[in-house]
Amino acid sequence: MTIMTKQEALLKAQALRKELERNSYLYYVEDMPTITDAEYDSLMRQLRAIEAEYPELVTPDSPTQHVGGYAKPGFTEVHHITPLLSLANAFSPEEMKEFDRRVHEGLPKDAKVEYVVEPKIDGLACSIIYENGRFVRAATRGDGMVGENVTENVRTIKNIPKVLSSLPGVPIPELLDVRGEVYMPRHAFLKLNEERVERGETEFANPRNAAAGSLRQLDPRVTARRSLAFFAYGIGTGALDTHNDSMDRLEAYGFTTTEGRTKVATIEEANALIARHGERRKSLGYDTDGVVVKVNAVWQQNILGATGKDPRWAMAYKFPPEQAETTLRDIVIQVGRTGVLTPTAVLDPVKLSGSTISRATLHNEDFIAEKDIRIGDRVIINKAAEIIPEVLRVAVEKRTGEEKVFHMPAECPECGWPVVRKNGEAAVRCTNPHCPALGREGLIHFTSRDAMNIDGCGPAVLLQLQERNLVKDPSDLYLVTADDLMELDRMGAKSANNLVRAIAASKENSLDKLLFALGIRHVGAKVARTLAMKYQTMDALMEATQEELAQIPDIGPVIAESVVTYFGDPGNQDYIERLKELGLNMKMLGTAASNENHPFYGKTMVFTGTLPTLDRATAQTMAQEVGAKVTSSVSKKTDYVVAGADPGSKYTKAQSLGVTILDEAAFRRLLENKDMQ
Ligand code: IVH
Repeated sequence: MTIMTKQEALLKAQALRKELERNSYLYYVEDMPTITDAEYDSLMRQLRAIEAEYPELVTPDSPTQHVGGYAKPGFTEVHHITPLLSLANAFSPEEMKEFDRRVHEGLPKDAKVEYVVEPKIDGLACSIIYENGRFVRAATRGDGMVGENVTENVRTIKNIPKVLSSLPGVPIPELLDVRGEVYMPRHAFLKLNEERVERGETEFANPRNAAAGSLRQLDPRVTARRSLAFFAYGIGTGALDTHNDSMDRLEAYGFTTTEGRTKVATIEEANALIARHGERRKSLGYDTDGVVVKVNAVWQQNILGATGKDPRWAMAYKFPPEQAETTLRDIVIQVGRTGVLTPTAVLDPVKLSGSTISRATLHNEDFIAEKDIRIGDRVIINKAAEIIPEVLRVAVEKRTGEEKVFHMPAECPECGWPVVRKNGEAAVRCTNPHCPALGREGLIHFTSRDAMNIDGCGPAVLLQLQERNLVKDPSDLYLVTADDLMELDRMGAKSANNLVRAIAASKENSLDKLLFALGIRHVGAKVARTLAMKYQTMDALMEATQEELAQIPDIGPVIAESVVTYFGDPGNQDYIERLKELGLNMKMLGTAASNENHPFYGKTMVFTGTLPTLDRATAQTMAQEVGAKVTSSVSKKTDYVVAGADPGSKYTKAQSLGVTILDEAAFRRLLENKDMQ
């Protein structure tokens, strides 16, 4: 640090505190931070450094002295039984060694220290109280002492037990305070943002903000519609002698605990696991922002105690955010399937987390204005949910004055029709109901994997078919011949024949696929499945009234209205009639009216070991969604054990009890209902 006079230090500390407080507010209350965690951490470090140099400048309300957090107006308060602490951060293996040294120093000379290493989930902390085994209350962290009462919202999270599982020899305590992280899986985050764009709403910046925004809803029905999940990582009241035992106990009660939790004997082993997690974290179905290393023995934790807000027995190793700097050359507009104009940044290609990035989403004009992004700017980019590149901020200090301010066009770049931005919406839309972009994007959507899943029918083929006037709407696809296709660029006889076969085969798809393929506003893959299961046939669905639809769980008034409007349109009615005449299946296949006939419905399942592609929490949620009960230990009552690599004792126990063991492929097949008799 540069040498500062005390006066300079005072001013700098005041400025840093103000900045930290402002960002804490944006983060905790608005769920819309404007700086990254790493930037926040860096401000905090600067403030800590100043306060270490001039301890007399420390104020009781300095952000270094309390857990950042605010209670949002509208929620009642909950006083935590014991405070919800935060964690100190380390950024290098050396800092972890420092932590280890301090732990040993704080303990009796001959104490043997064991650590537990587990991922740091990027969500929001929650305390859940069970009385005599029953879920009674849930609260956010708030300021660490007092949080918000989010009981009804947390109750909607599927993988949180409402009653603790009782197993022989496992006592149910009178009071149990489970601590853990509520998070949103990446796939759910991406889908939620897609829906928000369609509705003209602001997208969430990352899965953590989406989780926070979804949990802190005054109407729990909104929370219920968002796919949230929970990882337990601690016990406030009711802990056993070691952290690891507490976590095993929580699993026995029916909780999902952090994946990959491992006990180690040295900090070197912990550092090796941290490095391994650094490699693995991109392939997980949820965001982790680090690894937490905890002293295992509770008696040692008690001796070590806590500083103001961080326990001395735990340390969070934070991964550096992957960012890159490049020049924003241009801003182009893409018109989506629903007519929304999305500005996209054209970048000088730059490497980021293993891929070359040349485009990044700019979401909408408010996003551009807020970040003051101009053409020609040097920009810092990162990846949200590790998938979509995004412009994080502008390197304003590198501006030359040549940069140009961007304005959304007044006309659709595809068809020249005027665009509109409705009051209260962030999205700008093309007003032309027959805009060619809608047709093109609609075709791409129709053939996509979750819709009709037509192999070999990518955007390049569809575009040519459209340009040659062979296909105007998706129904025309079913009339395309191999000869037509052979006229296209790079299309041989073999590919043409394969494609014709793939198109024909798609006629047999189940109603839910077709319904999703139609591209009805607000009808995503999940809603399509719900509707198809409920009505079983297209005709029955087309007759449903808005009131009837709105009664269905998971179908709100907005979706109900959109469905009725779609089917009320004579053009759409003709289109569906045409699809019927072409021989497309209009019935729900494979499942009956509910999950009741699903092979996993009501079955008790245990997941163990590392699955090849799915992470365990995602696999468990998938099973729960079709009605399975997921437990952690194998018994005679277990119906299926899904086992991956290194499954351990659960596998052998399942074998000895004769429980059916599935690998990931078999699990997926059954999940898709393909092996149903
Ligand atoms: S332990 C007393 N373990 O990280 C120790 N925290 O930056 C309290 N978090 O407030 C926390 N994953 O919300 C712990 N495996 C994990 C975690 C974890 C995520 C969160 C938690 C905490 C924050 C601190």
